[in-house]
Order: sequence, then C-alpha cells, then structure tokens
Amino acid sequence: MLELKAVNKFFNGWQAVADVDLQVAAGELAVLIGTSGSGKSTTLKMINRLIEPDSGSIRLAGEDIRSQPPEVLRRRIGYAIQSVGLFPHWTVEQNIAAVPSLLKWPKARIRERVVELLELLHLPAAQFLARYPHQLSGGQQQRVGVARALAADPEVLLMDEPFGALDPVTRGTLQQELLRIQALSGKTIVLVTHDIDEALLLGQRIVLMDKGRVVQQGSAQDFLLHPASDFVRDFVGQSDVGVRLLGLDTVASRMRPLQPVSGEPIAASATLREALSAFVARRVSSLPVIDAQGQPAGVLHFADLLPVAA
Ligand SMILES: Nc1ncnc2c1ncn2[C@@H]1O[C@H](COP(=O)(O)OP(=O)(O)OP(=O)(O)O)[C@@H](O)[C@H]1O
Ligand SMILES: [Mg+2]
Repeated sequence: MLELKAVNKFFNGWQAVADVDLQVAAGELAVLIGTSGSGKSTTLKMINRLIEPDSGSIRLAGEDIRSQPPEVLRRRIGYAIQSVGLFPHWTVEQNIAAVPSLLKWPKARIRERVVELLELLHLPAAQFLARYPHQLSGGQQQRVGVARALAADPEVLLMDEPFGALDPVTRGTLQQELLRIQALSGKTIVLVTHDIDEALLLGQRIVLMDKGRVVQQGSAQDFLLHPASDFVRDFVGQSDVGVRLLGLDTVASRMRPLQPVSGEPIAASATLREALSAFVARRVSSLPVIDAQGQPAGVLHFADLLPVAA
C-alpha cells in the first residue's frame, strides 16, 4: 500500500532522514517511534509531500507519489498534525468539513459526516459544531484534528502524536476507538508517538528510528523478545519487558474453565498486565473472570501469567 525506498532528506546539508526503507501493507497500522529529532515527523511529511525527499522513492498503492499534484495526493491522505493546526477563524464544523467541502460533497452529507465524527470522538455535536478552536481545550482541539483527518474517508491516515496532549483516561479511550475504527474500516494508518506503551498497544508494525535511520522494525513481540541492539533494549525499557509482554495478551487467552472462586471479577478482555496488577492490589492468587455480558467465564490463577513452556 505504502512503500518508502532508500529515502533521504537533508536540511542545510545536515541529514535528518537517512536511507529509510518502510513498507506498510493495506489495512496495517504502523507506528513510528523514536527519540525527539529522530526524523519521524519529517518521514511522515514526505508521504504527503509537505516535504520533498532529496532521494529515494515513495509509492502509494503502487504509484509514485510525484505522479500527481500534491493537493490531489493530499485528498487521498488524512493528516493529523503534531501541533493540531486547526484553522483559527473556522468553526469546528468548518474545520472538520474542510476536505469534504473541497471535494464538493452535498451539504447534507457533509453535516451528517461531521456530526458522526464528533460523536465518535466524544464531542457532542450540539455543543461543539459552532465553536472556534480557541474555545476548546488542547485535548478537544486534538480530537477535532483527528476528526478532520478522517472526514473524507481517506485511503491512508497519517497521525503525528495525535493523542499527545491528552490525559491517560481520554488517551486510552481514543486508542481503543482508533483500534475499532481501524478494524472496521481496514484503513492503512501510520502513527507517530513517543510513548512505547502506545506503540506496543497500537502497532501491528513498529518502526524505531534513531538519528534519521530505522534501527529496527517488527511486531511488539519482536521488540520485547529480540531487541536488535542495546539502544532498542533501552528504548523498550529493559526492566519492564516482563510486564509489557503481559500487556500483549488478554485474560481470555490464559483463563481456565469455570471453578468456584470468590472475589471481585476481572474482564476476559483485560490484559494480563492488568490481571497482574489486580492480583497484587487485591492480594489474591486467583480471580474470577467475566465475559463482555458480565457472565462468569472462567478463572485465572496467578501461575497462569507464566507462559506454558513450548
Ligand atoms: N524545516 C527544517 N529545517 C531544518 N531542520 C529541520 C526542519 N525540519 C526538521 N528539521 C530537523 O530535522 C530533525 C528531525 O526532525 P523531525 O521533526 O522529523 O523529528 P521528530 O522525530 O518528529 O521529533 P519530535 O519527536 O521532537 O517531534 C530535527 O533535528 C529537526 O531539527
Ligand atoms: Mg515530530
């Protein structure tokens, strides 16, 4: 779907992006992660031609992105930028409707789409449609930015730290929402983040950059179990590898058939990391498990946190 080959970018003779190769399959959610200044935003901006690479090629759906004018390309690519970048003199509705208006959608369809997106991002339309960006909190502005990027149902979504300014609760809700949107729409997404836990949660493919180069790419398991260097090991947090591995699996994957166990239940959809926390906080060694309907589904024992040896 999206393919970068040997992409380089220099600013005043200084190399910001070095020989980046990257492939994102259709429907895949790829996460670019790395320290500040490692070239993540520059890489993202080259995909929609906000920045032109000095060498290398970038293809979207098999086609070189230089084969069409930037403004045509950008209608196919939703972009939520790091600094939000809403138009200050436009209302929330006008901001979200920017691309559908350019595409000359009928007015009724635009309104319907804006309302749908606002509800999706937990901003009640009645309250927010007519507001201006300065009348929103930072986190609300960020959510409007995400809605704007999604508005015209683009083929590819580029998101540069879209949840950066949010509190952990709202961030968690929107991360789940993004996973849901992606599962439903099969959208191809490239998301930039600083947060290793966000990368492990969201990234079907994780791409770690350092000083403009890709130092490792692979699945969350690859990063936790087979870090390619000491830099990667430090980045994923050596001392937390165990709990982060637990974060990749759900209670449902390890629970046993129903047995009578008392106490406050845990959801089958919770991660094993959450289960570990529950074991320790409640000082118990077994937890009753309930399904999405709240019905008893099984039991999880503390020892079940350890994977069965292959
Ligand atoms: N227009 C520009 N002119 C000169 N240097 C630039 C320009 N844009 C970016 N850079 C430099 O290129 C490097 C990579 O920048 P980039 O914005 O891609 O980093 P990043 O990985 O997104 O960092 P952060 O996590 O802080 O957002 C930085 O050192 C930055 O100062
Ligand atoms: Mg950046």
